Amino acid sequence: MSKSFEKQIPDAGKKWVEEDSEKENVYWPNENMKEKAWISDPDIYKEAREDPKSFWSEKAKEAIDWFKDWDKVEEWDPPYFNWFIGGETNLAYNCLDRYLKDRRKQAALIWEPEPIDEHERILTYQDLYREVNKFANGLKELGIEKGDAVTFWMPMIPETAIAALACQRIGAWHSIVYTAFSPASVKDRMEDAGSKTLITADGFYRNGQLMELKDKTSKIIKEVDAENCIVANRAGSDIDMKDGRDHYFSDLVEGQDLWCEPEPLGADDTSFILYTSGTTGKPKGIQHSCGAYTAQAALTTKWVFDLHPEEVFFSTADIGWITGHSYSLYGPLLNGGTTLWYEGSPYYPEPDRWWKIIKKYGVNIFYTAPTAIRALRQREDKWVGEHELSTLRILGSVGEPIDPDTWEWFFEKVGGGRCPIVDTYWQTETGGILLSSLPGIGPFVPGVAGPPLPGIQYDVLNEAGEPVEQGMSGKVVQKHPFGIGMLRGVYKAPEKYKAEYWSEFGDEIYFSGDGGKKTDMSIGGQVLIQITGRIDDVLEVSGHRLGTAEIEDAITELDEIVEVAVVGKPHEVKGEVPAVFAITKEGIEIKKHGQELEEKIKQIVREKIGAVATPEIVYFVTDIPRTESGKIIRRFLKSLLRDEKLGDMTTASNPESLEELARKVGYEGPEDIISQTT
Ligand code: WT7
Repeated sequence: MSKSFEKQIPDAGKKWVEEDSEKENVYWPNENMKEKAWISDPDIYKEAREDPKSFWSEKAKEAIDWFKDWDKVEEWDPPYFNWFIGGETNLAYNCLDRYLKDRRKQAALIWEPEPIDEHERILTYQDLYREVNKFANGLKELGIEKGDAVTFWMPMIPETAIAALACQRIGAWHSIVYTAFSPASVKDRMEDAGSKTLITADGFYRNGQLMELKDKTSKIIKEVDAENCIVANRAGSDIDMKDGRDHYFSDLVEGQDLWCEPEPLGADDTSFILYTSGTTGKPKGIQHSCGAYTAQAALTTKWVFDLHPEEVFFSTADIGWITGHSYSLYGPLLNGGTTLWYEGSPYYPEPDRWWKIIKKYGVNIFYTAPTAIRALRQREDKWVGEHELSTLRILGSVGEPIDPDTWEWFFEKVGGGRCPIVDTYWQTETGGILLSSLPGIGPFVPGVAGPPLPGIQYDVLNEAGEPVEQGMSGKVVQKHPFGIGMLRGVYKAPEKYKAEYWSEFGDEIYFSGDGGKKTDMSIGGQVLIQITGRIDDVLEVSGHRLGTAEIEDAITELDEIVEVAVVGKPHEVKGEVPAVFAITKEGIEIKKHGQELEEKIKQIVREKIGAVATPEIVYFVTDIPRTESGKIIRRFLKSLLRDEKLGDMTTASNPESLEELARKVGYEGPEDIISQTT
């Protein structure tokens, strides 16, 4: 790196971590990080533990501006609870208005379009503020008001951020649907939420292709009897617009007033709903609160990503997911930082687009998912190695356990061995991060999410509902008082709310659905928790409890293996045995080396975990069915191994992968498989 570059960007090239002097693979923040970080004193954990309510009360006041103080900090009527009752605030106000004085000219949102010959768009705090006010007035003109649900089917473009903030400003609820979901799923969600307004775009670019949106909605807009459809003109496509009902985004904001009063919203009013898949049936509308969700998004961004206002935060999460809500949009703005949005694919035009973007804008904090890291790792290292990534200070991972091998690659190749990785564990339901090591405190341990954040009462329980000892595994739960940003309900389905989250151990304990292990490490009196995966992914082999993630971690240590899914296969004597679906590195000939590799897989599992975990069978495949967020859908793999019907496949982003899998496990041909899916 050249000296001048270092001078230009104050922290460029600095090292922020050091390896533990005794334990291999344990990292700690160094002096640079401790000095820079907002939080570096582990006493914060103790302070929060001793009096969580006062702790949250103080922090929530510090993090955001309240229009009116609350009368009561917290209320609990199992399984419902609320925070900051009687308080009033506004999410959009907290993202924008309060930064106008000092950060008017600072970039709030940087937008990188996918086509390389197109210019980026940069909206300063003032620009974004104005656009949000104008669009909010546009929404009002259409008759949309507080408590109305507004459905989005929007790509990663600035209009999406503007529209979401505008909804928050007037107290309308956004319900954002991922663009890779089908129009039918948009319809389901509009009906469930009683939404009469759809905001969409003509299309967007992904992998060099124009992906149409608006024209695909014609049918469902009629079916749900939508009153308004607002269309952002992203690509200048010639689309079908219906007079009176369809409005271009740009026409709606044209001539609108630059001021729209931010609605004072009750802390426990709903700020948005977001649909997520449950264990069964239709997606559930998870309801988040106005006050506490906002405070949590602000605080967790500050604590976990240590975002400083001068820094650029690049979260690759799409707005259609909770990560997109809390950390691509609200969290960074609530902290006066700069958020970076990229429209398209990391592989376009070549597999180094993300690294190019990091260099182009001097990104400081980079947040992505293990599945993406694994996919990029599959490509040659030269794609990342060629880029100057010295502005990076913190890396983040979310969505599933990150195996130590992938962690190391991310750490070395992307972070240059300089940056900590925060492995952030949370859920759509929790609204914000709940488990993670903090940059200024540490430790950072490959494969281990970390301790609960200050003020969070996480625990791991055995079947009897008792806390397990360190070193033992069990079910990951949360205890009262609950995280301030937790869901406040499932829209119009109180019975689902209760059944899904508050029944495993009674209605006073929140059950996450995940399995976890209390490690033998702790910090500030909080035990570091390793998440082993959803409980339904846990195997019982001869009565021994084995996390599929644990076995997968062992197997991915092999250089030849890129990705692996382990599921239980029924076994007469042992109940279940591990079956392995493995994707190998490019260029490995299975015909020639399959048998040898299978032996190697069994050997490493025996070595790392024990003979009890030895896989019974290994299938080498080229793809594995996964959700849009990249999580492997083990249910399909399990069903295939059990000769059961596969059921609803709409949650898979790549259902075509099933065909190969089915053949590998012994089905004859496509007809045979189709009969499985119907
Ligand atoms: C489930 C929640 C949170 C936003 C993205 C996914 C798994 C999430 C981690 C992590 C291990 C993780 C859990 C959780 N998960 N983060 N750092 N380590 N597992 O949100 O779709 O609501 O999924 O993702 O299984 O329950 P989601």
